[in-house]
Amino acid sequence: MIKQESAKGRKEIIVTPENVIRPIKPWTMDVQRFLAYMTIERQITFVPKPKGIDNNGNEVVSFLAGEVYDYPLPNLLLSDATIDSAAKLLRKYHDLSVDYLSQLTGNEKWMFNIQMPQEVMCHNDFAPYNVTTRNGLATGMIDFDTLCPGTRLWDVVYAAYRWVPFYSEDIKIDFNRKCLRLQRFLQAYGLEKESYPEVISCLMMRLQVLIQFMISSAAKGEENFQNNIRQGHIEKYEADIQYLREHELSILSQIGVI
Ligand SMILES: Nc1ncnc2c1ncn2[C@@H]1O[C@H](COP(=O)(O)OP(=O)(O)OP(=O)(O)O)[C@@H](O)[C@H]1O
Ligand SMILES: [Mg+2]
Repeated sequence: MIKQESAKGRKEIIVTPENVIRPIKPWTMDVQRFLAYMTIERQITFVPKPKGIDNNGNEVVSFLAGEVYDYPLPNLLLSDATIDSAAKLLRKYHDLSVDYLSQLTGNEKWMFNIQMPQEVMCHNDFAPYNVTTRNGLATGMIDFDTLCPGTRLWDVVYAAYRWVPFYSEDIKIDFNRKCLRLQRFLQAYGLEKESYPEVISCLMMRLQVLIQFMISSAAKGEENFQNNIRQGHIEKYEADIQYLREHELSILSQIGVI
């Protein structure tokens, strides 16, 4: 049994060869219902199986095999093949989630606000630290705490931000290569061309919403977010928004929009 501090310093997660035990949250039962749909009705093996709540009141899900990496991303995760596999996995997941929307009651509790229109079940944090890999290829998705319905674009732009990455802590990659990697991610996902012009503006809005969420959660007394703010996370996201604002036109030009 491995007890590990989560990469972002949240509560302890217990990882056993079969299961992962995570702190329960207000949305856990709604997430587990969705995971049950995906793994039982749709027979999907690339998301964890939900296993209910244990005697200590923690969430239990099945362990997905593979390596999980955080920033700075290792070279193994910087290949074109990685980008393709991550974008394709997200696409497959989105497509398989569509039919679940009709099973929603509207009374579900989610961590984030729903982004309209409801096109897919957004993972909302499809980042290397929440994706299992084998030989540098994305194979599984974990940590569905941020799940909620929303638009494909909303999920795709944040995923691209994390995998390209435009996330500023990872600075190994120069501007032109980032643009090529972004284009590659969007193509591998199969994002409709009509959405390309909105990619950067949507990403800036996504990061702004994240900042507001961190501020309001910290104000409600949530320690994780208070710690994140103390560690300067908001300034980092603001710097990323500024970077995207300054480079929006050149990025759009490089990905073939203008
Ligand atoms: N179902 C799973 N299968 C395999 N590994 C898992 C699974 N769930 C969690 N892990 C491992 O535990 C780590 C932390 O779990 P999780 O992402 O669920 O929590 P977290 O608090 O959001 O952490 P982080 O901030 O790192 O994302 C993951 O990065 C991964 O290494
Ligand atoms: Mg996580």
